[in-house]
Amino acid sequence: MAFDRLHEDRILILDFGSQYTQLIARRVRESHVYCEIHPFNMALESIQAFHPKGIILSGGPSSVYDPEAPISDPSIFSMGVPVLGICYGMQLMALQLKGAVEKADRREYGPAVINVDLPSDLFQDIDREEVRVWMSHGDRILRLPPDFIALAHSDNSPIAAMGQPARRLYAVQFHPEVVHTPCGKDILENFLFRICRCKPTWTMKSFVETSIETMREKIGEDQVICALSGGVDSSVVAVLLHKAIGPRLHCIFVNNGLLRKGEAESVQRVFRDHFDLNLITVDATDVFLERLRGVTDPEQKRKIIGNLFVELFEKEARRIPNARFLAQGTLYPDVIESISFKGPSATIKTHHNVGGLPERMRLKLVEPLRELFKDEVRLVGRELGLPERIIMRHPFPGPGLAIRLLGSVSKEGLEILREADRIILEEMEASGWSDHLWQAFAVLLPVRSVGVMGDERTYDQVVALRAVESVDAMTADWARLPYELLQRISNRIINEVKGVNRVVYDISSKPPSTIEWE
Ligand code: XMP
Repeated sequence: MAFDRLHEDRILILDFGSQYTQLIARRVRESHVYCEIHPFNMALESIQAFHPKGIILSGGPSSVYDPEAPISDPSIFSMGVPVLGICYGMQLMALQLKGAVEKADRREYGPAVINVDLPSDLFQDIDREEVRVWMSHGDRILRLPPDFIALAHSDNSPIAAMGQPARRLYAVQFHPEVVHTPCGKDILENFLFRICRCKPTWTMKSFVETSIETMREKIGEDQVICALSGGVDSSVVAVLLHKAIGPRLHCIFVNNGLLRKGEAESVQRVFRDHFDLNLITVDATDVFLERLRGVTDPEQKRKIIGNLFVELFEKEARRIPNARFLAQGTLYPDVIESISFKGPSATIKTHHNVGGLPERMRLKLVEPLRELFKDEVRLVGRELGLPERIIMRHPFPGPGLAIRLLGSVSKEGLEILREADRIILEEMEASGWSDHLWQAFAVLLPVRSVGVMGDERTYDQVVALRAVESVDAMTADWARLPYELLQRISNRIINEVKGVNRVVYDISSKPPSTIEWE
């Protein structure tokens, strides 16, 4: 296995399938220490090649006694590297080091209180009594492994934390990585800084510097193509690569005519005029509209848009001589998803990307953001001087307004949607709600309803307002927007957008609904 970066101080997180594994990584990185998540069954040679300063074993849904229980190589405990086991990771450590684990009388799930019994590096500078933590486990430690000491207990877990300080092996029954364990950050930092003796050197400034160097080395004198959409990820990729290789980066921006108001102009202004990027713009509004004519099925729309995008992008890319690389904004969660040992989730909606293109054109991939979480990408964007408007942008789907205009896509419908969308974004910005929301947008419904404007009867279209809060788009809840804000948006849309006489607010959560309507 090859590791792209050789930071001096790196933590390895072995994943046993906990829903919180990514959170552990987030916490470690927030403390400015680089870390990576790998599957529990990572080979010992690869673990050694990674040169971890410490290893964290995540929690997981299994019981160590399950026949299919995930087991990692027990030699990790004798590598001379500190290990912190969390929940399932604690039980596995106990079992593999010859302690004993039993089923607890009752599952302990949710808030709990522990008392710290003995001083240790792990609990240094943390209250000793009535420490609030978050538990989520069925098994518990019955007997400590030889030479281990119990460090803390709760009512239901006589051994809520254990350690063998001489070998720098520690474990906790609770989850220090979740916010419901208020001292969790301190415990993790004790592990990182006192026990593993890491230095907090992982910053976005250091990331940018190293990344530019790595990209230069990898790309050499070749040319690189990048699909620029104006979203956060592709914008950061483009500016980062531009810093590394200047005019040898060729960005292609396909205007599919399904973008928000002023979007196409803004992409050109920012990237061509301000950042001086080599930008090729393809105006394909008419051909997209033509292919979408009369199409009402959402999956059909998505496929048409995705395929046409790839077709046009490829045509443009072939004109660039000596292109050897394709730059992509792959993020760390995508990487984890693809190496995770859990099965891939079923496709609910087809998302498009430049699928198949690298193989057909024999392009190699450069993915400078594949180590980063979304919030880290935003910090890199800031470091690179991207405008705040781009950095804090809400996600915008590849198929654009076409999947927010229910029924068939028309120029007139798009115009209505664009205006309604503009008003919503303006109001969200002005009220300060924008930064709290995952997304806020307009959906144009394919129905008409009766209204009255002045003395006249109207028979016009309906706009649905969608505003959701979410951390990762996997689940989402509708935002409890103040009535005054809803009122202002509704008034403005009905007054300013010709063809709309009714605004409704979507109060569905995901699941069972999805964020987009199509
Ligand atoms: P759903 O509607 O599935 O959306 O709850 C989850 C998130 O994904 C975005 N989305 C897309 N993003 N291409 C994208 O790049 C797509 O085809 C696409 N479809 C949905 C959506 O806006 C939301 O943030």
